[in-house]
Amino acid sequence: MDIENKVVLVTGGLGCIGAWSLYHLIRRGMKAICFDLGSSRHRLNLLMSAEAQEAITFIPGDLTDFTQVKATLDDHGVTHIVHLAALQVPFCRANPVMGAQVNVVGTVNIFEAAKQVGIKHLAQASSIAVYGTPEEYVDVTGETGLMPNDAAPKPHTLYGVYKVAGEGIASVYWQENGISSTALRPYTVYGLGRDQGLTSEPTKAMQAAAAGQPYHISFGGMMQFQWASDVAEQFIEAALRPMDGANGYNLGGVPMTVEAVAEIICKIRPDAQITVEPKPLAFPRGFEDTALRETMPVYETPLEEGIRATLEGFNRQQV
Ligand SMILES: NC(=O)c1ccc[n+]([C@@H]2O[C@H](COP(=O)([O-])OP(=O)(O)OC[C@H]3O[C@@H](n4cnc5c(N)ncnc54)[C@H](O)[C@@H]3O)[C@@H](O)[C@H]2O)c1
Repeated sequence: MDIENKVVLVTGGLGCIGAWSLYHLIRRGMKAICFDLGSSRHRLNLLMSAEAQEAITFIPGDLTDFTQVKATLDDHGVTHIVHLAALQVPFCRANPVMGAQVNVVGTVNIFEAAKQVGIKHLAQASSIAVYGTPEEYVDVTGETGLMPNDAAPKPHTLYGVYKVAGEGIASVYWQENGISSTALRPYTVYGLGRDQGLTSEPTKAMQAAAAGQPYHISFGGMMQFQWASDVAEQFIEAALRPMDGANGYNLGGVPMTVEAVAEIICKIRPDAQITVEPKPLAFPRGFEDTALRETMPVYETPLEEGIRATLEGFNRQQV
């Protein structure tokens, strides 16, 4: 299918990864449909001019409403789906029922609507929150300490449970209906627009540094940092690349401490005042991404480059 005939639906398109996805789709000359409950374009405005946004079709819609989801696919001739809309950890914790409605029922709605309109493949967001604490995986992580792609899920949050359900829903739609899918599991996404969620603090530190304000990151230790721009390109790649099965891939990258990220910010902005709480979050230090690399090109901008671009973006907002 030629690029100009592809119509890509992005659920949660006004979120961080969603806004970056719309940005890349439009840059590549594809038709992009943004489906989001919210109406604020504040994240998109960080990436695209109002004029550039005119190329996007905005559908204010609720993922939990099957009729709206199906009508959007029908009315706009959607050919591909990047399914990102979800409530993140703090929101699921505060409102578990709504979390389940959006993250679980919403995912069923996407797969069911795709089935009914004849879309054969889609990409969806899972998360490393499907896994448990490092102590639960000492037998499988070996010397590298990296979580293998096929390690058993042991979620400790409802959000993680909902993401396991999302991958399970994908598996059943493959077995029963032949709808294939690729779920990607990001870790700590950073970049313009990353303003909510458990691991948004390193980005908030970058924003504070650009504004000349101090910031304290409430966790430290080793994690993997993935630039929102790269993550969005990875989701687009996964959506445009039909493959058999219900596939799930960890996103990887070089494990790095939060403290090292703070140092990079301070190297680029010597006046930055960032402090880091040494206590790590209860996540493994990193995730093994060989399975993804064997399957498709991987987008991985070096950390310093991504941080520099983020600081420059936040600087532009200060002008
Ligand atoms: N950001 C990360 O570090 C990270 C890590 C792992 C997984 N993920 C997953 O990636 C996806 C995108 O993350 P993000 O950081 O862009 O999230 P985000 O919170 O910035 O955006 C989520 C978007 O979903 C929309 N939404 C919520 N409920 C909706 C509903 N009922 N109907 C339609 N839209 C609705 C929101 O309005 C918001 O614009 C999510 O599924 C998230 O769980 C993100």
